Amino acid sequence: MRIARGSLVVLLVTACGDSVSPAGGTSFNRIQSRILDVQCVSCHSAGNPGARESGLILTRGRAFDALVGVTPRHPTARADGLQLVAPGSPDSSFLLHKLHVEPDHHAGDYGTIMPVGSAPLAVGEVEYIRRWIAAGAQRGGDSIDIRLLSDTTSQSVAAFVPPAPPATGVQLHVDRFNVAPRFERELFVYKRLGNTAPLYVNRVDIAMRANSHHFVIYSFQPEIPASIVPPFDSIRDIRKLDGSLDFLAMRPMGFHLFFGGSMTARTSWQLPAGIALKLPAGAALDLNAHYVNRTDAPLPGEVYANLFAVDSASVTNVAQSLFLSNTSIVLPPGQRTTLSRTFTFSQDVRLFMLSSHMHERGERFVIRINGGSRSGEIVFETNSWSSPDIVNFAVPIELKAGEGLRSEITWNNTTSNTIRFGLTSQDEMGIIYGYYWCVTTCSATPVSP
Ligand code: HEC
Repeated sequence: MRIARGSLVVLLVTACGDSVSPAGGTSFNRIQSRILDVQCVSCHSAGNPGARESGLILTRGRAFDALVGVTPRHPTARADGLQLVAPGSPDSSFLLHKLHVEPDHHAGDYGTIMPVGSAPLAVGEVEYIRRWIAAGAQRGGDSIDIRLLSDTTSQSVAAFVPPAPPATGVQLHVDRFNVAPRFERELFVYKRLGNTAPLYVNRVDIAMRANSHHFVIYSFQPEIPASIVPPFDSIRDIRKLDGSLDFLAMRPMGFHLFFGGSMTARTSWQLPAGIALKLPAGAALDLNAHYVNRTDAPLPGEVYANLFAVDSASVTNVAQSLFLSNTSIVLPPGQRTTLSRTFTFSQDVRLFMLSSHMHERGERFVIRINGGSRSGEIVFETNSWSSPDIVNFAVPIELKAGEGLRSEITWNNTTSNTIRFGLTSQDEMGIIYGYYWCVTTCSATPVSP
């Protein structure tokens, strides 16, 4: 017995070397000093915008209580009943989903892989955390094999496997491009679908290389002036290499209509049988990829989107896009203002996706159900104007005629001028984006402000 224990100690000392903090050799302390301190606290510490957006502090002394048994802020993770760390249950632990690059390891949309903008954690680091959670996520104890922390095998970032095109439908592709070191590249490319008949889409799969901040598919409002419609197949970068914005390249953005999107490396969402999104014959879509590279080497970006089409005869209800804009925005200088606006449906609907749009003074966007048995319930919240969540509801939200949604938006006007509603980035907006279908045929105005 004594000999066995002695040799174990020797093994541990050899394996962990000098880099492990002496501060009590518990498994959690190793996670703290080897992973959180090094890769996470640059954002997840008090006062940092990353901590404000995620609501998560991972600094020494606070991380354990902020993680174990705590409900995530991310709405999809919360709806799926996850905890940040669910002791004994890695699958129910959102922390692990945020670290694990493995394609298709979950169907939901759980946002960006952490650490955002850097290489993902090594295979051994993720496995160490997984085993610590499986073993009960103890504050004390040091039973997890620390040799795992020396396994620096990269989670297959390079091994990006493009998805096969759908049997019926269209595959859209943003060709591989380079993201310069320490650069945030956000680009658009306008692509023809090549469809000669209307396309009824009832499933969308998105696959993107790691380090994507988001990918969004837009169409254009019919009112877009011909001079602003971008040319096909040409890359429009909205940021120059010095980081400044290219306002000419940004002009078409004012006329976008949201079609779909994702914030995670692999997403798949499907509508119930009989429900589909309709794209007209000869459709074209504006694809928007946003990559963040916080490393010193160039990183590749690349995105595929598969639009799966169904036979028009099988479609009973065409999904409608939501565009619920609060245009009564007046923000006095030098203060925060929160404005609410309620939108009511005039017939029974099922909502299956929500997202939001505001400009850079926007700090928080909350969507609540208004009316009915779930009145007041928050169904969407984001603190990000630049990259809001896109929430797909596996169980659609049922709203009856007379019920609706309320947007509650907080802006912080730090300028000395009043800011009002408007299209330019100096003005503000507050729009609920999303999708729904009408339980019966949609009337001309299924939703009213
Ligand atoms: C560059 C800044 C940055 C770094 C570095 C970073 N994060 Fe994050 N993290 C964010 C932001 C912003 C969010 C909120 C948006 C999101 O969920 O994608 C977030 C969200 C999260 C969430 C979800 C919280 C919730 O309740 O929804 C977890 C868990 C998380 N991060 C863990 C980590 C871990 C662990 C590391 C280190 C391995 C890390 N992060 C590194 C910025 C960062």
